[in-house]
This record gives sequence, C-alpha cells and structure tokens, in this order.
Amino acid sequence: MFKINENYLKLPGSYLFSDIGKKVKAFTEANPDKKIIRLGIGDVTLPLAPAVIDALHKATDEMAVKETFKGYAPDLGYEFLRTAIAENDYKTRGVDITIDEIFISDGAKSDSGNIQEIFDLNNKIAVCDPVYPVYVDSNAMAGRTGEFLPELGRWSEVIYMPCTEESNFAPELPKVEPDIIYLCFPNNPTGSTINKAELQKWVDYANKAGAVIIYDAAYEAYISEEDVPHSIYECQGAKTCAIELRSFSKNAGFTGTRLAFTVIPKELKCGDVMLNSLWARRHGTKFNGTPYIIQAAGAAVYTEEGKRQTKEQIAYYMNNAKVIREGLAAAGYHVSGGVNAPYIWLKTPGKMTSWEFFDYLLKEANVVGTPGSGFGPHGEGYFRLTAFGTYENTLEAIERIKKL
Ligand code: MLT
Repeated sequence: MFKINENYLKLPGSYLFSDIGKKVKAFTEANPDKKIIRLGIGDVTLPLAPAVIDALHKATDEMAVKETFKGYAPDLGYEFLRTAIAENDYKTRGVDITIDEIFISDGAKSDSGNIQEIFDLNNKIAVCDPVYPVYVDSNAMAGRTGEFLPELGRWSEVIYMPCTEESNFAPELPKVEPDIIYLCFPNNPTGSTINKAELQKWVDYANKAGAVIIYDAAYEAYISEEDVPHSIYECQGAKTCAIELRSFSKNAGFTGTRLAFTVIPKELKCGDVMLNSLWARRHGTKFNGTPYIIQAAGAAVYTEEGKRQTKEQIAYYMNNAKVIREGLAAAGYHVSGGVNAPYIWLKTPGKMTSWEFFDYLLKEANVVGTPGSGFGPHGEGYFRLTAFGTYENTLEAIERIKKL
C-alpha cells in the first residue's frame, strides 16, 4: 500500500486565504443583498497597463504565424526579459547582476514555496512572526519544521523572530543561529520596512553564520522613502548569502497573468557548490517556462510607457493606502504600514481577537480584511487591510468602519 507524505497531515487548517474565502462565501450566501468590500487578499483591481496589453496582443499575433511562433520557452526565461531586468531593476541601483543569475518563473508564491527544495532537511529556518504563510507551510510540507504545537500556534523546529510594535515590526537578529532566514521587505503583512543600514546587519550576520537569506522583495515598487533598499544586493556582501525573489504581480498587476523572477548570484555557494546550479537543475527538471506572451508582456513593463503607466497604478494604490491609514487613525485606530507598502496593519479595538474583529467587520460593515493571527502568533490582536481595492470601494469601506 502506498504511503502519503505525512507532513501534510501536520499542517493546521487550510491555507489562510482559503479559510477567509470560505467564511466570506458563507456570509454572502446568507446575506445576498449586502455589498461586500474585499480588502483581504492582496489582489490587484486595476486592469493591466496599456503598454502591457499592447505587448500581449502583439505577442499573441506572433504565435499565430509560423515564422514567429514559439514553443517551449528557454529554461531560465527569454533573454530579452532577463536583460531588461538586469538593466532596470539592478544596474540602475548600482548592482551588477548577470542574466544567468536571473530565473524567470510563474510567480513569487511558487518560487518562495519551492526554493526550500534545494536545501537539506536538517536546516533550521528562521521566520518573522507574523509572516507570509507560504514560507512556513512549504517547509512544513517538506518535513523541516518539526511538530505543530496548537497551544502555541507554532512549529517546534522553527525559529520565530517576533515583529512587534516596540521594534517597528522589524525582527531582531536571532540568538539561535538559523541556516535559512526568510525576510520580506516591504513586509507582508505588517507593511513595515527596514533601512539599508539595518538590512546590512542581516547580510553581515548571515555571512558570518554561514546562513542563507531568502529575501522576498515582491513589494519593492511601493517604497517611497529614500533610505529603504529595493534589493538586498544594494548591501555589501549580499551576493554570498542572499537569494532574492521578485514579482510582477504587485508592481504591474500580473496576479492573474503570472510572472516573477528569482535571483541567485553565482557567488552564493555551499562549499564548492553554487546554489545557482542547483536551482537551474531544479528549474530545468520541474518547470517548462513562463509562456512567451507573458514574458513579452513583462518586458513591456520596462519600456518608457510601461514604467510611467505602472508607476501611476502604484500611486493609485498608495493613495488608497493613505485613505485607509488616515481614515482609520482619525477614527481612533492604531495603524502602521501603508507608507512603503500596500498593506495597513491595525490593532484590533478593545480586547477583540483578530478573528473576532474579522467576523465583526464582515457582519457590521461588510468589509473583508485579513486576521493578523493567520500570519502567526504575534499577529494576534492585529488586522491587515490592503490598498489594492478600487478607490471608491476603499473610501466606502473606511466610511463604514468609521461609523461602527
Ligand atoms: C496576500 O494577500 O498576502 C498576497 O496575496 C499573498 C500573495 O501574493 O500570494
């Protein structure tokens, strides 16, 4: 008789956003007349930029012609896209990343879940608490996290780095040395960031400890403050200790179109072995490339019009962030985030737990958010709202919350 991967049975509940989806569905079915405003999952609402749509149409037409038709995409992604990334995302920031250090993929969610495969099962991971659930769950599925302790809401073999109000929701360097450190800045879910000097401390720590940092920079386009780094490679020595994950989902609205990339510098080694080669091997075996038309659309993000149009979209969402932040603060809520990130992190009022506040907001204001406790024990008592809604819905949601 076959056996299953029993690590899956250790996972508590279902994926956070599936749980929320089920609750909202049940509420909508019981209250069909209510207009629900969704500020829960970080999904964009603006259509793709015109430059991106033009590129998609053009690439689609190429697929209809024998001479320009494309089959499988190259393993690492098309050179035209990797060159645009190296030039625009890195060179302009004084960072030298070569195109064979860039791996195009279908999303930062898949990359952040899959990257753990190239590491030994005995490696110890460190994560922020609260944290984007994919990092922990994917390691749990692999069997790297020990047992889940329901009374603590934690895994026995994971190093948790609490991110609290006292530290501006930034983690402190862990006392027990981890092998793999997951960092996400601008942060999901708290919307916090750290400056370059602070990030440099993590790079120095990792290089000294022989640890690898998996740096999720999916929200870098939302950075508005000067001294906040857009890439971990802006720090000295990061190429020998860091992998960077980037996405087109939040900076160009590709959540439904799927496009991302991972950077693994060739200097990043375990003994003589380059992690770049391991990921190339894994990518080549398990992934057959992001479709040509999507990569062509992605390259359009780096054209002059593409840059201008996507910048406008980000400004639109950041205006929503301002509406949420200022509206809630005026209503007496304790809020943070929303300045360098599209997420606003608020304290639940009174003694309400995160899920109690979720139910209250859904029932009384018909607004959906994300309970902080879904991101880890230190998220309890907090709640996340996203700035990715439409302007009109965002305004209305805040007006409804203010009236409660
Ligand atoms: C979120 O709401 O946290 C995001 O949608 C996560 C993601 O991008 O997968």
